[in-house]
Amino acid sequence: MKFLLLLPALLGLAVSHPAAPELDRRADPQIAHFYFQAAATGYNLTVPADGNWYPTNNGLNINIITALDFTVNQCEFATHQQVAFNYQLSGDSFPKEQFAVGPPQPIDSVRCHGYCLGIYEDCVKNGQYVGTCCNGFCAANKCRPYVYPQDISE
Ligand SMILES: *[C@@H]1O[C@H](CO)[C@@H](O)[C@H](O)[C@H]1NC(C)=O
Repeated sequence: MKFLLLLPALLGLAVSHPAAPELDRRADPQIAHFYFQAAATGYNLTVPADGNWYPTNNGLNINIITALDFTVNQCEFATHQQVAFNYQLSGDSFPKEQFAVGPPQPIDSVRCHGYCLGIYEDCVKNGQYVGTCCNGFCAANKCRPYVYPQDISE
């Protein structure tokens, strides 16, 4: 009975949103750029956010993973030791999402999925939520950069 009542609602939804903009974005996977920091050194890695695992081919002991243009929570990082990932923001003027890696260790492979929107892109269009912001949050219909309390008080 409940199923029958839901059906017209679902059909209505399908008809009223024929071509949402996010469908175009999903045609090609978004490309995520990372910096894997090992104390004073590190390496860059580019990964298509297509849900597949990509090896890093690098054995450095990583202590911080920075998602330069992606949402770090939409990615997984495989290691071969016990590991904890702690979400944090970098100290840049445009803060970036990071995982602090404890204890520092090699990251074997990475996989990411989904997509996200750049700073000042529309996260709400015509009253419709478009998607997650990369390295920012959605406010007044736009993706805004993360800020720190000290930035606001200036
Ligand atoms: C990583 O990329 C950044 C930005 O392109 C560059 O400045 C930096 O030198 C690169 N680091 C390494 C270790 O390749």
